[in-house]
Amino acid sequence: MEHLSLPDNSYFLGFDSSTQSLKATVLDSNLNIVASELVHFDSELSHYKTQDGVYRDSSINGRIVSPTSMWVEALDLMLQKLAKSNLDFAKIAAISGSGQQHGSVYWKTGSSTILSSLDPQKPLVGQLVDAFSIKESPIWMDSSTTAQCRQIEEAVGGALELSTLTGSRAYERFTGPQIKKIYETQPEVYQNTERISLVSSFVASLLIGGYASIDETDGAGMNLMDIKQRSWSKKVLEATAPGLEEKLGKLAPAYGVAGYIAPYFVKRYNFNQNCLVVQWSGDNPNSLAGLTLNTPGDLAISLGTSDTVFGITSDPQPRLEGHVFPNPVDPESYMVMLVYKNGSLTREDIRNRYAEKSWDTFNKFLQQTPPLNGGKLGFYYKEHEILPPLPVGVHRYSLENFKGNTMEGVTENEVEEFDSPSEVRALIEGQFLSMRAHAERFGMPLPPNRIIATGGASANETILSSIASIFGSDVYTVQRSDSASLGAALRAAHGWLCNKKGSFVPISTMYKDKLEKTSLACKLSVAAGDQDLVSKYAVLMKKRIEIENRLVLKFGRC
Ligand code: XUL
Repeated sequence: MEHLSLPDNSYFLGFDSSTQSLKATVLDSNLNIVASELVHFDSELSHYKTQDGVYRDSSINGRIVSPTSMWVEALDLMLQKLAKSNLDFAKIAAISGSGQQHGSVYWKTGSSTILSSLDPQKPLVGQLVDAFSIKESPIWMDSSTTAQCRQIEEAVGGALELSTLTGSRAYERFTGPQIKKIYETQPEVYQNTERISLVSSFVASLLIGGYASIDETDGAGMNLMDIKQRSWSKKVLEATAPGLEEKLGKLAPAYGVAGYIAPYFVKRYNFNQNCLVVQWSGDNPNSLAGLTLNTPGDLAISLGTSDTVFGITSDPQPRLEGHVFPNPVDPESYMVMLVYKNGSLTREDIRNRYAEKSWDTFNKFLQQTPPLNGGKLGFYYKEHEILPPLPVGVHRYSLENFKGNTMEGVTENEVEEFDSPSEVRALIEGQFLSMRAHAERFGMPLPPNRIIATGGASANETILSSIASIFGSDVYTVQRSDSASLGAALRAAHGWLCNKKGSFVPISTMYKDKLEKTSLACKLSVAAGDQDLVSKYAVLMKKRIEIENRLVLKFGRC
């Protein structure tokens, strides 16, 4: 077999068109980062007058949009900045990118001609001002489409049906409900739209000078795609808006090539005309790639303001809360994404109330208390929680006769408060038992092959030890602030390899002998805990889910 490797002396460019900025990361063929750059929307493109990259519309409840032209101008500015930093564009073999998920762009009828005949003497932004039928793109923060969500769910037979079909129940920020709202409130604008792009496929379209496909991974964030078939679902298309399939174009796998870089960029910036543009995808899928997750059983936990779990599985079981997207680096498997609203702020709140406002005391309490917490279980929701859907509140239970081997003979009492060290342990065990339980329910193979922890709280080894004991898996850490643009650069290299071979190549072939030598390597932080304890946690987890289900029935939202 021909030995496949990345071409020497070339670069792979990854962008991340996110809510507040456009970022770029450049890798060389040994996967070392050679350049990175950022364009901050509010400060560097201040004439758009956005706040945090968006407009919050006070007249329409929940409407949040961003000016589409700002994203175009950001690309102009980014390329100028990279040129100034002396990046040799001619060495870039492939480009890919990441876009904030769910946001959409509406191309006016006739715009494909504008796109394919851009004048390299002029910046992009002025040439494209009239290309959009809607000048302000709805983005993921928008929550103005509740009515459309319920209508779509009803039309396909309910929320769980829609989730089974598309990977998620209807969410206000998802693109299908957003398109439906535009069709219903501005039918003439909808009619005058020849193509609808996601943020990801939009920027890819600029780069190839033609409409780029939506990739299967980001396509799953629309409530429109059949995740098993990886094609548009006729049933949901019909429930959303007429004539939609034509406006969406075809789907493509994330490792596929969208096209060659447009002559505009070759002439204006001296890109190589053979530079490939690999399909762009969403920011969460790109972050998964940036964390080098690739095979079923890989799991990442991001510990931030909200906690997020990403995992890879070949047998996803979509449910009401959480999302299933195709895996961006492997066409056979899927990524599961679970989002928890109660992350670091809730940990901080418990630290302030029970651990003298000190992380040292918090950690000491965690080390002092025994695993399983003597059967003390807590549910702490400082914010309205998504997973499970429960309102603000705290619920504490104490199990009697709990030894960890069985639930037989174990009784439970609701209690007002625990001693301070037990409060700390109940919070931490509660958060990670919930992740283990929900990841398993979504079809994640457990124990994971490995867990990669990121985000602010991943610096806390005491917390990581609890994760290792609860999941029974080694926990690695990695310092990545820009995992989405880095993931895009890695995907650019991966797409280049697949294109070279003429068919899919596992991304792990690209990592062989390479990763350890770069700053992308993960560092083993805590080794897997004792297996007997992992089984005891499984018993406690079942009990926790039983109580959680009851709480949802009593207080939950549907
Ligand atoms: C994911 C989501 C956000 C955006 C942010 O469903 O809405 O994470 O992708 O960029």
